Amino acid sequence: MRLENKVAIITGGGSGMGEAAVELFAKQGAKVIATDINLEAVEAVVAKINENGGEAIAIKHNVAAKADWDEVIAKTIEAYGKIDILINNAGISVSKDFMEQTEEDFAKGFAVNTNSVMFGMQAAIPHMEQNGGGSIVNVSSIAGLVGMSGAGVYTASKGAVRAITKAAAVDYGKKNIRVNSIHPGYIVTPMSKEYMESDQFRPYFLSQIALPELGKAIEVANAMLFLASDEANHISGIELPVDGGVTAK
Ligand SMILES: NC(=O)c1ccc[n+]([C@@H]2O[C@H](COP(=O)([O-])OP(=O)(O)OC[C@H]3O[C@@H](n4cnc5c(N)ncnc54)[C@H](O)[C@@H]3O)[C@@H](O)[C@H]2O)c1
Repeated sequence: MRLENKVAIITGGGSGMGEAAVELFAKQGAKVIATDINLEAVEAVVAKINENGGEAIAIKHNVAAKADWDEVIAKTIEAYGKIDILINNAGISVSKDFMEQTEEDFAKGFAVNTNSVMFGMQAAIPHMEQNGGGSIVNVSSIAGLVGMSGAGVYTASKGAVRAITKAAAVDYGKKNIRVNSIHPGYIVTPMSKEYMESDQFRPYFLSQIALPELGKAIEVANAMLFLASDEANHISGIELPVDGGVTAK
């Protein structure tokens, strides 16, 4: 198993890519702390894992609240004594015409998509240092690499995730803490399926992708697994698109 004896915190574990990652990491032997603002959803994911012989704990967590992070870290240390992996996955979509985006949209988009990533890293890194190292994977977006129409706030918030990932990789590399970002493209999840599976927009998304199909949550989770695992021991500070070739253009 690729994550044997590892302790992994995964945010947004109740749906989409986070759910796929919680299941995959548990299958690969990790003890998973799955968090989500939607406790019922993440409890259901965790219950399935524990029924099938895996090990996971569900915690209610608003990633935008620093105090919630302290609680998640404290519970993780209490349960397992260490943190090896942090997957900052939780995020929200903010789509609006450029001129209609408000101060409130900015505040919310940054709080959930960006501040959360900083809070999580600040909370986990001291424990990773104590433990001799760790791996952090921050989920950005192709919107953090290229401009996306109708998503100015989202693009800015995810671009900041890309940049803060590199800053942390540089600051903590000598402590053996690896920090990388993943940039999903058009992935069908509860967040996106209303658009991606609609007759109106699906042909557009498909036209943007080099590969034949839209992405699946498990395909992003597989990339998270690789970067989190010891197989990626010499990889830090990278931005990995999982986008079927959208950004190859
Ligand atoms: N779906 C895509 O095509 C796509 C593309 C690029 C990037 N992303 C990014 O991937 C990540 C996962 O997206 P997804 O498509 O799986 O979405 P999703 O909506 O299916 O799942 C996101 C989960 O995060 C949780 N969440 C939302 N706000 C939260 C908060 N404040 N605190 C804690 N949990 C919170 C939700 O309850 C949900 O369970 C997000 O960061 C998203 O921006 C998605």
